[in-house]
Amino acid sequence: MFLVETIEDLRNKIDALKDDGTLGFVPTMGALHMGHISLVEKAVLENQITVVSIFVNPNQFNDKSDLEKYPRTLEADLKLLKDTGCNIVFAPDAKVIYPKKDTRKFDFGPLESIMEGKHRPGHFNGVAQVVSRLFEIVKPKKAYFGLKDFQQLAIIKNMVKQLDLQVQIVPCDIIREKSGLAMSSRNELLTAEERKNAAVISDTLFKTKELSKKKSVQELKSWMVETINKNKYLSVEYVEIVDDIQLQPVNSWDENSAKVACVAAFCGKVRLIDNIVLTD
Ligand code: PAF
Repeated sequence: MFLVETIEDLRNKIDALKDDGTLGFVPTMGALHMGHISLVEKAVLENQITVVSIFVNPNQFNDKSDLEKYPRTLEADLKLLKDTGCNIVFAPDAKVIYPKKDTRKFDFGPLESIMEGKHRPGHFNGVAQVVSRLFEIVKPKKAYFGLKDFQQLAIIKNMVKQLDLQVQIVPCDIIREKSGLAMSSRNELLTAEERKNAAVISDTLFKTKELSKKKSVQELKSWMVETINKNKYLSVEYVEIVDDIQLQPVNSWDENSAKVACVAAFCGKVRLIDNIVLTD
């Protein structure tokens, strides 16, 4: 496994490995966990060459302190990747990704007007900037993204369409800790006590799925907020029940679409998101 920091080194290593046109790519911001590793393992199975990028993208943080706090653990990340079969780790400096200021403005319409898009203004524009730039550099055939960031996945698919990019986006299942808590780099910022209590978020989502047959959409959303907020460590930022294509709020179970329940909540000072598909 090679660690490279420049575009030239990356291209040279890819050429040396003789890309047969099935390069798989897993973009990350590091602080890797088993959720990331499951994406890498899938990419390794499906492609001749797998590239993982590690880059904490400043453009997608609307909150400076969130960017500063974001865990950076390159050595541990490399250790975790060593046995996956990943060929190249691309860990560039910001100057490599943004040789000049990226001023592009993407328009994702209603897709970005709710949930993460509403609560983190500019976040998805920054995600689209970095992912499109990484695609331009790495030139993957397939790119792998976790379903925990359900709205991000929809935004990236939309961006690929808008820019007419020839890359297949592969969604990958949410990987959970034993407690049910969705794996996230941010979990590392929780105290042991907070981490235990954060599992109330996933517990609530699992019960939401059961209750979707018994309660109306509005009743269920209120119940979710109440249930999570009852825990003294947790505070809901939003809950939404949306369709799985346009990600618009649904008002009734009769609407003809698969439905997904999404949550963002603070556990102490750490903001966590999670979701569950309600329709089998
Ligand atoms: O999901 C993430 O870790 C990031 O948003 C991504 C896709 C690597 C872009 O920085």
